[in-house]
Amino acid sequence: MGLFITFEGSEGSGKSTQTRALYERLNAAGYPVILVREPGGTRIGDMIRAIVLDLQHTEMDPTTESFLFSAARAQLVNEVIKPYLALGGIVICDRYADSTYAYQGYGLGRNLDELKTLTAIATGDLHPDISIYLHISADEGLERKQRHNGELPKGVEWNRLDAREVAYHRRVAEGYQALIASDMPRWRVCDARLSIDALADITYDHVLPYLAKITRIDTPGK
Ligand SMILES: Nc1ncnc2c1ncn2[C@@H]1O[C@H](COP(=O)(O)OP(=O)(O)O)[C@@H](O)[C@H]1O
Ligand SMILES: [Mg+2]
Repeated sequence: MGLFITFEGSEGSGKSTQTRALYERLNAAGYPVILVREPGGTRIGDMIRAIVLDLQHTEMDPTTESFLFSAARAQLVNEVIKPYLALGGIVICDRYADSTYAYQGYGLGRNLDELKTLTAIATGDLHPDISIYLHISADEGLERKQRHNGELPKGVEWNRLDAREVAYHRRVAEGYQALIASDMPRWRVCDARLSIDALADITYDHVLPYLAKITRIDTPGK
């Protein structure tokens, strides 16, 4: 029931930009759709997000970090995502389980099998129907985010995970490549250096074949 779409990619790859664009298009076309982001998307999840991303929390243990992400995810899945999918709606999620594997697994060296077990518990084995990967090198993505010399544009944040060293972000990017290679059918890889509008067209095209099973709430333009 419903359609579960996730967006993944390095920092600065354009996930926030593209998830919003897709949400707006689907909404304008009359589809029942919600947009959520990880970590967060619920009242409790947003509180966990503040703890995880706080630049001052330099002492956070990787195990703590993994559990906090999973706790926020469990709340989001059970409070928001599953109920909306059960109604036949479309859920767009800005980051999901693959971020845990890429960041805590490949980035921080946590055991992938353990992370998968933790994620299965947190999500009740809820997997995305389609995952869009916005591909950009770690260096270029970080550069995009920092371009404004510390003064980030509205809606763009610089957090504890962004602040980790470039080598870490490179491991994350390589991790995504490995994740994609191991589960190709679910992934749609897009070149994140294309223009914002071109990418919005491409991602919409990727989603289009899945829309046949979604009942619109109203006629567009009505
Ligand atoms: N296709 C694009 N080309 C150039 N700049 C982009 C593109 N998409 C997003 N940006 C810019 O890059 C920065 C990071 O984008 P954002 O959507 O916040 O990425 P993410 O959510 O993946 O970290 C923002 O300043 C945004 O305006
Ligand atoms: Mg973002």
